[in-house]
Amino acid sequence: MKKKIFITRKPPEHVLNNLQKIFEVDIWNSEDTEIPRDELLHIIHKFDGLLCLLTESIDEELLDKGRNLKVISNLAVGYNNICIEEATSRGIMVTNTPGVLTETTADLTFALMLAASRRIVEASHALREGKWRTWSPMFMTGMDVHGSTLGIIGLGEIGAAVARRAKGFNMKLMYYSRSRKPEFEAELDIEYADLHTVLQTSDYVCILTPFTKDTKNLITMKELKLMKNTAILINTARGGILNEMDLIQALSEGIIWGAGLDVYEQEPLPLDHPLLQFPNVVTLPHIGSASIQTRTKMWELAAKNITLALQGKTPPNLVN
Ligand code: DGY
Repeated sequence: MKKKIFITRKPPEHVLNNLQKIFEVDIWNSEDTEIPRDELLHIIHKFDGLLCLLTESIDEELLDKGRNLKVISNLAVGYNNICIEEATSRGIMVTNTPGVLTETTADLTFALMLAASRRIVEASHALREGKWRTWSPMFMTGMDVHGSTLGIIGLGEIGAAVARRAKGFNMKLMYYSRSRKPEFEAELDIEYADLHTVLQTSDYVCILTPFTKDTKNLITMKELKLMKNTAILINTARGGILNEMDLIQALSEGIIWGAGLDVYEQEPLPLDHPLLQFPNVVTLPHIGSASIQTRTKMWELAAKNITLALQGKTPPNLVN
């Protein structure tokens, strides 16, 4: 008898076809709406495997209902939506999709840095709103990226990929991470420092650390006050690492110069959110890994992980 899996969003055709050859597959047949929580809770007991997104909270309640689950394959590198301890204590494997999204997420991080520093979105709006009356010397002037100092918080694969791009812009590189990364220090000429020094010294600070109980609220008003008032903060990791209320206050008081954000404490970001009022904040809808090529690879990797796990093999991206 075929094992049963549930997929919480509509996968690409070829991924679905391949999975259907091996498993009995049920899907939430939508590209852009979430399966209601109650519905997932109601059906999850039927499945051996779950392929889910960061929009699903895989907590104790869901794991209690999913008594037949053997694997949860997350379509993301981050897995803060899954209670790993609860899954592990039930013997459920959890997998993620690292590697395939590294370069794409680094591209977007760099794009946010350029967009926020050179006021790309604001300038484009200004043109469309008829505010471009003549070439004027200080119109839409921003901050230089080339030759400035970049501080990376969390030097993993994505952080290193951002640092490689920054070298092409002749930036000075610093980082703060839980542990030192000698391999990246040697390759990238990137200097390790404590968090305070990185914040005080950098013109750009990129948050690229996983969201865990240790990194929740890593950046609050206290840390923002250490930054230069000409500095720009970029977050393409997870919203809760940066305290949004404190960021709003820091922006209002000119404590930092601007920000580029792809992730938020609450997603989707409500349209009346104060962060959307700042012209000096570039706000994107969590699209760090959103290239067609990369999202396809993420689906393929998530499918591989769930397949191997249910075939009794060790999936390549086991996190517990
Ligand atoms: C991740 O993978 O964790 C991103 O946030 C979505 O690609």
